[in-house]
Amino acid sequence: MIGKLNHVGVATPSIEASVALYRDMLGATSITEKRAMPEQGVWVAFVNLPNSQIELIEPYGEASPIHGFLKKNPAGGQHHVCFEVEDIIAARDEMRAKGATVLGTGEPRIGAHGTPVIFVHPKDMGGVLVELMETPKGAH
Ligand code: CO
Repeated sequence: MIGKLNHVGVATPSIEASVALYRDMLGATSITEKRAMPEQGVWVAFVNLPNSQIELIEPYGEASPIHGFLKKNPAGGQHHVCFEVEDIIAARDEMRAKGATVLGTGEPRIGAHGTPVIFVHPKDMGGVLVELMETPKGAH
């Protein structure tokens, strides 16, 4: 069912500090501008790699879902992995049919790539928070 690994989500207390790390330590040359996603409670920036992306996420606002993670991991850390799927509704229904918990209302939200996403609870995925994202149209 899953397709490409679209990105790995990395939570950070400072996108600027993380951008400097990926640029100066690892030599990343293509990194997007930081932008706010208020509905998701995060700032995001993407480190573009030849085969995937690192999604840097920093809390935006008091209600950000990232605060709890950073409380446990003050320096930041690997937060989620995102796989592409052809049909987000079919993927959600299949995950539920297999007994997994889809976070929130279960209604897909528009993610940072402009396509609908859902999150599957880490307790159902061996401790890994999994984001499923509908493949952008025209991407393949
Ligand atoms: Co993500």
